[in-house]
Amino acid sequence: MWRYVLWLLLLLQSIAFTSANLHTEQHVLGGKSSKATTGDSSGAEIITAQAAGQTVREPGAELVESALTELRKLYKPLHARARKPNGLFSALGQFVITALPTFRLTASPPEQAAASRMSNALRHATQLLEESARLNNSDALYILAEMNFYGNYSHPRNFKAAFGYYHQLALLNGNASAMYMLGLMYSTGIGGAVERDQARALLYYTFAANKGHTRAEMTVAHRHHAGIGTPKSCEVAARYYKRVADKAIEWYRSGPPGGRSWILEAHRIADDTGGAYGEGASVVSAGENSARSHPDSEASIEDIIEYLDLMAQKGDFKAAFNLGRIYYEGQRGLSKNMAIARRYFLDVVQKYWKKNRPIENPKGGLERFAGKAAGYIGRMYLRGEGVEQNFDRAKFWLERGSLLKDAQSQHFLGLMYLHGYGVKRDLPQAIDYFKAAASLDYAAAQVQLGILYLDQGNTEDLIAANHYFELAMRWGHIEAYYYMAEVNMYGVGRDPNCQQAVSYYKIVAERAEPIVSSWADANLAYESGNVELALLEYLGAAEQGYERAQNNVAHLLDPDKSRLPFLHRLLSPTPTSPLLHNPTLALIYWTRSARQSNIDALVKMGDYYLYGIGTEADVDKAVQCYTGASEYLQSAQALYNLGWMHEHGIGLDQDYHLAKRYYDSALETNEEAYLPVTLSLLKLRVKSAWNTLTHGRINSIQDEPAPKKEWSFREWINNFLQNDEGQYYEEYYDEYYDDSMPGGDPLDFEDGLTESLVILGLAAVLAFLIMYRNQRQQQVVRQQQMQAQQPQQGLGQQQQQAQGQQHGQQQAQQPAQHQEQQQQELFPQPGDPQFGQWAVGH
Ligand SMILES: *[C@@H]1O[C@H](CO)[C@@H](O)[C@H](O)[C@H]1NC(C)=O
Ligand SMILES: *[C@@H]1O[C@H](CO)[C@@H](O)[C@H](O)[C@H]1NC(C)=O
Ligand SMILES: *[C@@H]1O[C@H](CO)[C@@H](O)[C@H](O)[C@H]1NC(C)=O
Repeated sequence: MWRYVLWLLLLLQSIAFTSANLHTEQHVLGGKSSKATTGDSSGAEIITAQAAGQTVREPGAELVESALTELRKLYKPLHARARKPNGLFSALGQFVITALPTFRLTASPPEQAAASRMSNALRHATQLLEESARLNNSDALYILAEMNFYGNYSHPRNFKAAFGYYHQLALLNGNASAMYMLGLMYSTGIGGAVERDQARALLYYTFAANKGHTRAEMTVAHRHHAGIGTPKSCEVAARYYKRVADKAIEWYRSGPPGGRSWILEAHRIADDTGGAYGEGASVVSAGENSARSHPDSEASIEDIIEYLDLMAQKGDFKAAFNLGRIYYEGQRGLSKNMAIARRYFLDVVQKYWKKNRPIENPKGGLERFAGKAAGYIGRMYLRGEGVEQNFDRAKFWLERGSLLKDAQSQHFLGLMYLHGYGVKRDLPQAIDYFKAAASLDYAAAQVQLGILYLDQGNTEDLIAANHYFELAMRWGHIEAYYYMAEVNMYGVGRDPNCQQAVSYYKIVAERAEPIVSSWADANLAYESGNVELALLEYLGAAEQGYERAQNNVAHLLDPDKSRLPFLHRLLSPTPTSPLLHNPTLALIYWTRSARQSNIDALVKMGDYYLYGIGTEADVDKAVQCYTGASEYLQSAQALYNLGWMHEHGIGLDQDYHLAKRYYDSALETNEEAYLPVTLSLLKLRVKSAWNTLTHGRINSIQDEPAPKKEWSFREWINNFLQNDEGQYYEEYYDEYYDDSMPGGDPLDFEDGLTESLVILGLAAVLAFLIMYRNQRQQQVVRQQQMQAQQPQQGLGQQQQQAQGQQHGQQQAQQPAQHQEQQQQELFPQPGDPQFGQWAVGH
């Protein structure tokens, strides 16, 4: 019943929007055909500039203008740092600089108090905007909404107000940006403005997407791809992803010869510290991945540059070339610098070409590096990077590089002949160059060859084209992915494969970060310590389907970050703001990240279910997550957790033997975890021994297990998984999209802890008892010996001992008087007469 009411509501809303859209379109058309007669009462608003052929202004436009003038004076946006400073002291300075505004910006006071803290200028500008918004001015509505959502111009955030403005704007003219934001707010329930509602979210996203809003298109595509709030549909996902991928490729090709280049910004914050569980404990930085993870790669690029610079100054051409390339390509945290890059490249080529001719007997490798450097210089002239575009000079340098068998030079020469940049078009010549470069595994040339083969259209040509695209794809070339998506989509030279096509389109769309996402802004906000803004920006990217953004959102919201190092915690202050306290949202994004094959996120999910963070505790789900993460022995953490659950009988049968097996596998998977796992194993052995001793019900560790069937651990896990695989995948992801989360019995972890303590205590007592017995036996033996030797003296000793015991009893009767003394005697040494009393008395 409720469902129908809801759908009816949505339908009505959609009708309202469609009519609003119609209204705007008419408005726009009317405005274009006859500017002077744009009806309504806005005749007076027509600005003087209209004579110059500009469009009609909305009511309240001059209010917006004066407000913006004030706001711009008030606040300068963040700017990317050109280059990180060197050395410890400047790093410290940097730290101070970033930390100071951090606390000021992120401290988010309660909303009422915040209003009074707004500066007068800001309040005045806001009033102007509000006045304009009452006249239905769309710019004013938009700016007010953004100020309340993102906190632009240091306006305090108010998500309810933001929602109101976006909603008004969406109703006014069906503005796609506003509808996208409404979708975002419904999807995440961020800031408590509205209840989470995936159906409405999808509705708003779809409206925005159908109006061509790129982010909305990507978001809708991701939802249909992953089945969020809607059944999975490869066809729909492919349709939306293709629209974004088309835009991405158009943008890529709109650049200089050879396509646009940009720095990829997408990364996981958690990876900077070795993963969600820290260095060595997370899958990303453990086992076979440990070599690849650089926990502080940003810091080390500075060291690398410093070192290379030193070497280059000493005349090392390899160092100079690599520095040139680093500055030419840039990377996250280090922007490109064409002037410096060019200087280093020139440095290299000048070592090889003296007086316009190659030197004789060049040092080993100089020839090769000179060729590469020449290729870069030619490329810079061809593309006009850091220099005026100049085809003649480009050709000069590229030919030099080409003679030295530099693939890049050959490829760009090919491009010059293909498109006739400064030369006569010559297809065969171009193909020759491309083939030469492709044979050296140069991805861009492989793509060009693939395109040329694709145009031929014969079956063999199509197969060859596919082959070249596949080769280029290994290097992550964006166009290669695009063509692979297209050939898979339409079955060109191969069978159509929607799933493959979608995953390639997704890569293309996500690659084009600058036009589809706010990664750069988000990273900037995070690095400058504005965690809340970073969260909001990552949130958008997460909705768009970036696994890394999903991971970042979850990481920022994760209440359990105690493993982060000290400095890191200082830079990103612990959540004091309600915005950052949202474990339910954290769980949602761990889930989505896990769904895109992030193992650490899957283990995190397990933790949330186990401890009931952001959801009701559900041990069965926790087990499912851990089991999934321990598949193929990937996550030592998950294996350890499974062992722990077997040890304590939480969620799994209590079984010391299996527990030991899991602990052993955890150790096998990750040797760095040796100490904690070994300690657990030790404790387990004690418990197991106790269990055996007391004939407990629990399966104890058997040193020589004799299983009925010789199963390897992997087989065992596989078998275990197969049994309930069917439900496993469907059940545990889709639940969040309903509001109900099936509950489980809350766990009493105090119990587990005290139990362990009691057991350890018992073990200690046992040890003491045994020691005491030995001691006594020895004493008795000694006494017997002594008695045998000197009977009288021995008697005296016994009397003395009896006196001592009496003395001890008296002490126990009057504890208050002898506290000081008792303190010293709390742990009497073996051999001390009181030792016996102490051990037995407990
Ligand atoms: C603003 O738009 C709403 C809805 O479109 C309308 O009801 C209201 O009268 C408008 N206000 C003004 C001042 O035009
Ligand atoms: C929505 O409205 C704002 C303010 O008028 C405008 O800047 C923005 O471009 C609009 N968005 C779209 C997608 O038209
Ligand atoms: C407000 O700030 C956000 C985040 O920095 C930015 O993306 C957005 O464009 C800004 N909006 C306006 C109207 O300045």
